Amino acid sequence: MNKNGAKISDIILRTENLGRTVPAESSSRVVIDSISFEFHRGKIYTVVGPSGSGKTSLLRLFNRLDEKSRGEVYYENRRIAEYAVTDLRRKIALAFQIPYLFPGTVASNLSYCCPDQTVPDDSSLARYLKLVGLEEELAGRDSEKLSVGQKQRVALARALVQEPDILLLDEPTSALDPGASRTIEELITNLNNELQLTIIMVTHNFRQALRLNGVSLVLVDGKLIESGDSKALFTNPENDLTRRFVKGELR
Ligand SMILES: Nc1ncnc2c1ncn2[C@@H]1O[C@H](COP(=O)(O)OP(=O)(O)OP(=O)(O)O)[C@@H](O)[C@H]1O
Ligand SMILES: [Mg+2]
Repeated sequence: MNKNGAKISDIILRTENLGRTVPAESSSRVVIDSISFEFHRGKIYTVVGPSGSGKTSLLRLFNRLDEKSRGEVYYENRRIAEYAVTDLRRKIALAFQIPYLFPGTVASNLSYCCPDQTVPDDSSLARYLKLVGLEEELAGRDSEKLSVGQKQRVALARALVQEPDILLLDEPTSALDPGASRTIEELITNLNNELQLTIIMVTHNFRQALRLNGVSLVLVDGKLIESGDSKALFTNPENDLTRRFVKGELR
C-alpha cells in the first residue's frame, strides 16, 4: 500500500514532480509544472483544460515523444527511460488529434504500425475493425475515401493492433460533428470495458469528460490544479480556476 491506500500493482503509470521547460523568445517557458499523479489500471482518465494549458505536452511525456526536464514518469513501477522507446510506445500508444493515415488500403494502414511485429492476419484485422465498430469489408477500402469519423476509427484500430496497456488519445473527436463524437465516446467506453485498457484522453470539453464518467485532471498553465471523479469535480469544483473553466471564462 502507498500513502493513498492504493495497492502498488493497481498503479500502471505514475508521475512524480514531472516538469518540462521549453526555450522561449528571451528565456524559457514552463509547460508542465511539477505534476504528481497516479493512474490506475483499467480506468478512464480525461485531461481537461483551456488551450495552451499543457494537455498535449503532458501526453507526449508519457511515451517519450517529448523528454521531461524534471521529475519522473514510472510505467509499471519502472522509470520510462529504462524501456526501449519502441517497446514503450507499443505499450503506451498514442492516437493523434487529426487521424493521419498512409495512402493505401485500411488493411495496409493497420499493418504499417508494426515494423518488427507480426503483421496481423485477416482474422485479426477483422477483429480490430470490429473493435472500433467498422465492417470487415472496409479492410480493402482506400483510406483516402473514408469519412473523418471512419479515419479516426482506423487510427484507433492501428493503435490497438500494438496491444497497448495504455491508450493515449489527444482530442480524438475535435474534427468530428457532435453525432460522430458521441459514437467515438461510446467506442472509447467499450474499449475500456472489453479490453480493460487504461485510457488517458485529452479534451477541452468538460462535458465530454462527464459523459466518459471516469477521473478528470484539470490543467491550467501547466499545473494540475484539481483532480478526481469527473462528475463530482465538474458539478462541484473546489478550485476557482476549475469553476471559471466550467463557466466558459477560460478558453
Ligand atoms: N516544443 C515546444 N516549443 C515551444 N513551446 C511549446 C512546445 N511545446 C509546447 N509548447 C507551448 O507549451 C504550451 C502548452 O502547449 P500544449 O500544446 O501542451 O497545450 P494544450 O493544452 O494541448 O493546448 P490545445 O488545447 O490548444 O491543444 C503552449 O503555450 C505551447 O505553445
Ligand atoms: Mg493540445
